[in-house]
Amino acid sequence: MTYENLLVEVENKIAVVTLNRPQALNALNKGILDDLSSFFDDVKSNDDIRVIILTGAGEKSFAAGADIKEFASFNAEEGKQLAAKGQERVFNKIENCTKPVIAAVNGFALGGGLELAMSAHFRIASTNAKLGLPEVTLGLIPGYGGTQRLPKLIGKGRAMQAIMTADMFTAERAEQIGLVNEVVEQANLLARAKEIAGKITKNSSIAIGQAITAINSYDKPNGFDIEIASFGYLFEEDDFKEGTTAFVEKRKPNFK
Ligand code: CAA
Repeated sequence: MTYENLLVEVENKIAVVTLNRPQALNALNKGILDDLSSFFDDVKSNDDIRVIILTGAGEKSFAAGADIKEFASFNAEEGKQLAAKGQERVFNKIENCTKPVIAAVNGFALGGGLELAMSAHFRIASTNAKLGLPEVTLGLIPGYGGTQRLPKLIGKGRAMQAIMTADMFTAERAEQIGLVNEVVEQANLLARAKEIAGKITKNSSIAIGQAITAINSYDKPNGFDIEIASFGYLFEEDDFKEGTTAFVEKRKPNFK
């Protein structure tokens, strides 16, 4: 798996995907977004990968937003297309990926960068991370899902204030309000992300995929129906037989 703007390293069923434009603080230009879209298509059928960790190259930034220089001269229709295509081809695809996606936020996660981290299934951050949606300072609003995902994660009032003021959250504050799950020293960030990913790889990947789909529906009117359907579906799967047999036989399950 090689991409012009991403570094992809796979080990022990865990893919570390690094946004690789450090000279522009990993700003999300068309090239990075195209590569992310391709990666999340490719990963579906790649049995060597069960968990994905997203991070940014360098020690300063996860991603400093959509590439401002690329869209500065856009008109309304082009702006609309930028948001619509980005959401469909990257951000929604990540959120709906049935393999777990962890964002390891290693510095600035601003605008589209925070929106990328929020489309991951959960986030951990390094102590130097700064997270925010500063689009109103550019005369814009968040366009890659930020007005929808931020209130779900931190509540409507906090999201309103964050978007209106364009203030950045420190890593410590982001943890307090549930925007990130954990904060660790930058030197330990990837190791901790891999440790969490390693735990996940020991569990049933088919059950985890169904859990992602069900949890993603928690705020939809049919969320309970989706949970019930997924629960029932899993009873026909080999992992269910292996998991329950292993419990009865007092051994660890060996999921395929
Ligand atoms: N787009 C394009 N280039 C960017 C960028 C961005 N979002 N963020 C940083 N860069 C570039 C800078 O232009 C600079 O390049 P040059 O050396 O060629 O001038 C390089 O990265 C380093 O950046 P700075 O010199 O600005 O670094 P700094 O340490 O002084 O500041 C920063 C860091 C506070 C993150 C600052 O770069 C910044 O404010 N960046 C923009 C953040 C932002 O507004 N993001 C929202 C983008 S809009 C969006 O995302 C819309 C959407 O929702 C879809």
